[in-house]
Amino acid sequence: MLNNIKKVLVSEEQILEKCKQLGQQISKDYEGKNLIVVGLLKGCVPFMSDLTKNISIPIQIDYMQVSSYHGGTESTGNVKVIKDLDYNINGLDVLIAEDIVDTGKTLKKVMEIFNLRGVNSIKIVTLLDKPEGRVVELIADYVGFTIPKEFVVGYGLDFDEYYRNLPFVGVLKEEVYSK
Ligand code: IMP
Ligand code: MG
Repeated sequence: MLNNIKKVLVSEEQILEKCKQLGQQISKDYEGKNLIVVGLLKGCVPFMSDLTKNISIPIQIDYMQVSSYHGGTESTGNVKVIKDLDYNINGLDVLIAEDIVDTGKTLKKVMEIFNLRGVNSIKIVTLLDKPEGRVVELIADYVGFTIPKEFVVGYGLDFDEYYRNLPFVGVLKEEVYSK
Protein backbone atom coordinates (compact mmCIF):
# COMPACT_ATOMS: atom_id res chain seq x y z
CA MET A 1 0.00 0.00 0.00
CA LEU A 2 2.79 2.44 0.92
CA ASN A 3 4.54 1.68 -2.40
CA ASN A 4 1.75 3.51 -4.19
CA ILE A 5 2.19 6.74 -2.23
CA LYS A 6 4.33 9.41 -3.89
CA LYS A 7 4.72 11.57 -0.79
CA VAL A 8 3.16 12.40 2.56
CA LEU A 9 1.31 15.70 2.28
CA VAL A 10 -0.05 16.05 5.82
CA SER A 11 1.32 13.97 8.68
CA GLU A 12 -0.68 12.34 11.48
CA GLU A 13 0.84 14.77 14.02
CA GLN A 14 -0.17 17.78 11.92
CA ILE A 15 -3.72 16.43 11.59
CA LEU A 16 -4.14 15.80 15.33
CA GLU A 17 -2.83 19.26 16.20
CA LYS A 18 -5.19 20.83 13.66
CA CYS A 19 -8.18 18.89 15.05
CA LYS A 20 -7.37 20.32 18.47
CA GLN A 21 -7.31 23.89 17.13
CA LEU A 22 -10.48 23.45 15.08
CA GLY A 23 -12.30 21.81 18.00
CA GLN A 24 -11.43 24.69 20.31
CA GLN A 25 -12.51 27.30 17.76
CA ILE A 26 -15.81 25.49 17.07
CA SER A 27 -16.49 25.14 20.82
CA LYS A 28 -16.07 28.90 21.19
CA ASP A 29 -18.12 29.84 18.14
CA TYR A 30 -21.05 27.56 19.03
CA GLU A 31 -21.27 28.24 22.76
CA GLY A 32 -24.98 28.37 23.71
CA LYS A 33 -26.16 27.12 20.28
CA ASN A 34 -27.83 23.85 19.26
CA LEU A 35 -25.00 22.29 17.34
CA ILE A 36 -25.32 19.11 15.33
CA VAL A 37 -22.20 17.93 13.52
CA VAL A 38 -23.11 16.03 10.37
CA GLY A 39 -20.39 13.86 8.86
CA LEU A 40 -20.49 12.92 5.20
CA LEU A 41 -19.69 9.22 4.94
CA LYS A 42 -17.41 7.54 4.45
CA GLY A 43 -14.40 9.82 4.13
CA CYS A 44 -15.25 11.86 7.21
CA VAL A 45 -14.89 9.06 9.76
CA PRO A 46 -11.31 9.53 11.08
CA PHE A 47 -11.71 13.33 10.95
CA MET A 48 -15.09 13.26 12.74
CA SER A 49 -13.58 11.12 15.45
CA ASP A 50 -10.55 13.32 16.12
CA LEU A 51 -12.44 16.58 15.65
CA THR A 52 -15.44 15.88 17.87
CA LYS A 53 -13.21 14.65 20.72
CA ASN A 54 -11.85 18.19 20.80
CA ILE A 55 -15.26 19.88 20.95
CA SER A 56 -16.06 20.70 24.57
CA ILE A 57 -19.69 21.89 24.29
CA PRO A 58 -22.78 19.60 24.06
CA ILE A 59 -23.34 18.48 20.48
CA GLN A 60 -25.35 15.94 18.55
CA ILE A 61 -23.75 13.81 15.85
CA ASP A 62 -25.32 12.40 12.72
CA TYR A 63 -24.14 11.02 9.40
CA MET A 64 -25.27 11.22 5.83
CA GLN A 65 -23.96 9.38 2.80
CA VAL A 66 -24.15 10.84 -0.66
CA SER A 67 -22.40 9.68 -3.78
CA SER A 68 -20.83 11.88 -6.40
CA TYR A 69 -17.99 9.69 -7.62
CA HIS A 70 -18.05 6.46 -9.52
CA GLY A 71 -14.67 4.99 -8.84
CA GLY A 72 -12.66 7.59 -10.73
CA THR A 73 -10.72 10.60 -9.53
CA GLU A 74 -13.06 13.30 -10.78
CA SER A 75 -16.38 14.45 -9.36
CA THR A 76 -19.37 14.03 -11.66
CA GLY A 77 -21.65 16.43 -9.83
CA ASN A 78 -24.53 13.94 -9.75
CA VAL A 79 -25.24 13.82 -6.05
CA LYS A 80 -27.42 10.99 -4.81
CA VAL A 81 -28.50 10.49 -1.18
CA ILE A 82 -27.58 6.94 -0.15
CA LYS A 83 -28.18 7.31 3.58
CA ASP A 84 -30.15 10.23 4.97
CA LEU A 85 -29.89 11.73 8.47
CA ASP A 86 -31.57 9.96 11.38
CA TYR A 87 -32.52 13.25 13.08
CA ASN A 88 -34.77 16.14 12.21
CA ILE A 89 -32.46 19.15 11.87
CA ASN A 90 -35.20 21.79 11.83
CA GLY A 91 -34.06 24.76 13.93
CA LEU A 92 -30.59 23.36 14.61
CA ASP A 93 -27.16 24.82 13.91
CA VAL A 94 -25.65 22.38 11.45
CA LEU A 95 -21.94 21.95 10.91
CA ILE A 96 -21.15 19.64 7.99
CA ALA A 97 -17.87 17.75 8.34
CA GLU A 98 -16.13 16.73 5.10
CA ASP A 99 -12.82 15.11 4.30
CA ILE A 100 -12.11 17.34 1.29
CA VAL A 101 -13.76 20.04 -0.80
CA ASP A 102 -12.78 19.89 -4.46
CA THR A 103 -15.32 21.07 -7.06
CA GLY A 104 -17.70 22.04 -4.25
CA LYS A 105 -20.64 20.34 -5.99
CA THR A 106 -21.27 17.74 -3.28
CA LEU A 107 -21.46 20.26 -0.45
CA LYS A 108 -23.47 22.76 -2.46
CA LYS A 109 -26.10 20.08 -3.06
CA VAL A 110 -26.12 18.92 0.57
CA MET A 111 -26.47 22.52 1.76
CA GLU A 112 -29.46 22.98 -0.55
CA ILE A 113 -31.11 19.88 0.92
CA PHE A 114 -30.46 21.02 4.51
CA ASN A 115 -31.67 24.57 3.88
CA LEU A 116 -35.03 23.16 2.77
CA ARG A 117 -35.33 21.51 6.20
CA GLY A 118 -35.41 24.82 8.02
CA VAL A 119 -32.06 24.81 9.77
CA ASN A 120 -31.07 27.79 11.92
CA SER A 121 -27.58 27.97 10.44
CA ILE A 122 -25.30 25.89 8.31
CA LYS A 123 -21.51 25.87 8.11
CA ILE A 124 -18.78 23.62 6.77
CA VAL A 125 -15.69 22.17 8.37
CA THR A 126 -13.31 20.32 6.08
CA LEU A 127 -9.99 18.68 6.77
CA LEU A 128 -8.69 19.53 3.28
CA ASP A 129 -9.53 22.20 0.74
CA LYS A 130 -8.49 22.14 -2.93
CA PRO A 131 -9.58 25.67 -3.98
CA GLU A 132 -8.13 25.28 -7.50
CA GLY A 133 -10.66 22.51 -8.16
CA ARG A 134 -13.72 24.65 -7.45
CA VAL A 135 -16.38 24.87 -10.17
CA VAL A 136 -19.24 26.22 -8.03
CA GLU A 137 -19.07 29.05 -5.52
CA LEU A 138 -18.52 27.51 -2.11
CA ILE A 139 -16.43 28.65 0.83
CA ALA A 140 -15.65 26.32 3.72
CA ASP A 141 -15.94 28.07 7.09
CA TYR A 142 -13.30 25.98 8.84
CA VAL A 143 -10.42 24.50 6.84
CA GLY A 144 -7.72 22.22 8.17
CA PHE A 145 -5.25 22.37 5.30
CA THR A 146 -5.34 24.00 1.88
CA ILE A 147 -3.70 21.70 -0.65
CA PRO A 148 -2.78 21.84 -4.36
CA LYS A 149 -4.86 20.15 -7.06
CA GLU A 150 -3.46 16.65 -6.56
CA PHE A 151 -5.32 13.42 -5.88
CA VAL A 152 -4.77 12.49 -2.25
CA VAL A 153 -5.63 9.45 -0.14
CA GLY A 154 -5.49 8.39 3.48
CA TYR A 155 -7.07 9.45 6.79
CA GLY A 156 -10.50 8.58 5.35
CA LEU A 157 -9.85 9.54 1.74
CA ASP A 158 -10.00 6.71 -0.76
CA PHE A 159 -9.17 5.66 -4.25
CA ASP A 160 -11.64 2.92 -5.24
CA GLU A 161 -12.37 2.38 -1.51
CA TYR A 162 -8.72 1.65 -0.67
CA TYR A 163 -6.20 3.67 1.37
CA ARG A 164 -8.78 5.07 3.85
CA ASN A 165 -6.87 3.41 6.69
CA LEU A 166 -3.60 5.29 6.16
CA PRO A 167 -3.01 7.49 9.24
CA PHE A 168 -1.75 10.43 7.11
CA VAL A 169 -2.76 12.22 3.91
CA GLY A 170 -0.57 11.29 0.96
CA VAL A 171 -0.38 11.89 -2.77
CA LEU A 172 -1.16 8.80 -4.81
CA LYS A 173 1.26 7.95 -7.64
CA GLU A 174 -0.30 8.83 -11.01
CA GLU A 175 0.35 5.37 -12.42
CA VAL A 176 -2.02 3.89 -9.83
CA TYR A 177 -5.09 5.67 -11.18
CA SER A 178 -4.09 6.07 -14.82
CA LYS A 179 -3.93 2.29 -15.28
P1 IMP B 1 -16.54 17.70 -4.75
O1 IMP B 1 -18.01 17.53 -4.93
O2 IMP B 1 -15.81 17.74 -6.07
O3 IMP B 1 -16.16 18.87 -3.89
O4 IMP B 1 -16.00 16.36 -4.14
C1 IMP B 1 -16.01 16.08 -2.82
C2 IMP B 1 -15.77 14.60 -2.63
O5 IMP B 1 -14.93 14.08 -3.65
C3 IMP B 1 -15.04 14.34 -1.33
O6 IMP B 1 -15.93 14.10 -0.31
C4 IMP B 1 -14.21 13.14 -1.67
O7 IMP B 1 -14.95 11.95 -1.39
C5 IMP B 1 -13.96 13.21 -3.14
N1 IMP B 1 -12.61 13.75 -3.46
C6 IMP B 1 -12.28 14.96 -3.97
N2 IMP B 1 -10.95 15.09 -4.12
C7 IMP B 1 -10.42 13.93 -3.67
C8 IMP B 1 -9.06 13.45 -3.55
O8 IMP B 1 -8.06 14.11 -3.85
N3 IMP B 1 -8.92 12.19 -3.03
C9 IMP B 1 -9.97 11.41 -2.66
N4 IMP B 1 -11.25 11.83 -2.75
C10 IMP B 1 -11.47 13.07 -3.26
MG1 MG C 1 -14.70 9.58 -1.76
